[in-house]
Amino acid sequence: MPSYLETSMEIAREAGALLAGYFEKRISYELKGEYDLVTDADRASERLIVERLRSHFPGHSILAEEGGGHENADGEYRWYVDPLDGTTNFAHGFPMFNVTLALAKAGELIAGCIYDPIHDEMFSAERGSGAWLNNRPMRVSKAARVQDSLVATGFPSRKRHLNVNVHFYYQMAMCSHGVRRAGSAALDLAYVASGRLDAFWEFGLKPWDMAAGILLVAEAGGKVSDMNGARAEIGGAHLLADNGLIHGEVLGLFGEIFTGNYRTPLPEMAPVR
Ligand code: IPD
Ligand code: CA
Ligand code: CA
Repeated sequence: MPSYLETSMEIAREAGALLAGYFEKRISYELKGEYDLVTDADRASERLIVERLRSHFPGHSILAEEGGGHENADGEYRWYVDPLDGTTNFAHGFPMFNVTLALAKAGELIAGCIYDPIHDEMFSAERGSGAWLNNRPMRVSKAARVQDSLVATGFPSRKRHLNVNVHFYYQMAMCSHGVRRAGSAALDLAYVASGRLDAFWEFGLKPWDMAAGILLVAEAGGKVSDMNGARAEIGGAHLLADNGLIHGEVLGLFGEIFTGNYRTPLPEMAPVR
């Protein structure tokens, strides 16, 4: 019998192929909120995934971004599904998006995958067994200092006027090789797990954005917590994932911002000539 992970990867590949078909056609989008985009591709991918999960695992609960999931009162298993992570990229023809599924048993993540159909990259992990990129074991990077690191963050479209992340962005931009903002949180986490990035953080992620990535980073030898160093909760207010070697240093830099001690204050706006 295929494992949960194998079945989830099969479903993610099928949904990824469907997304790639829509992507080629450059379909239009609608707005869920002022700047929160959704497309027919998000909905079609979610329908496919939920249908497949329900037929394979009728007793499991499913939490899916576009609301097509279902609750099973006795179920100890719960799937987290983002049918299209990176919708804004997708809608603009920017080829950085993915489909991601994760499974938790009694609240503990046990399997997860993140599939990027444009680059045909499948990132996956199973609790206690490791993490893989296209079936080859993957590990986090070896960068031991923030000053030698390439890091990433994101800015959710919801309530963005309340997001304080620009302060953290600036602090990290001043201390590292650079901060990337690619617009797909699950891939950011997959890139930390595969050593392409040394750290990623974001405020306001949803459970389906982060569930697979949390497991991937942990199984690839990295560290995941909230931005204060407390245990990472699926759906917590903020998340920090990195290679483990720079975790303490990043938390120190974040701590400075949380307490208002800016080592490099944001520059004053002045006329530019
Ligand atoms: C979004 C992307 C983006 C992140 C947002 C997410 P969506 O997911 O992952 O990178 O900054 O927080 O909501 O809406 O495209 O599935
Ligand atoms: Ca998402
Ligand atoms: Ca989504």
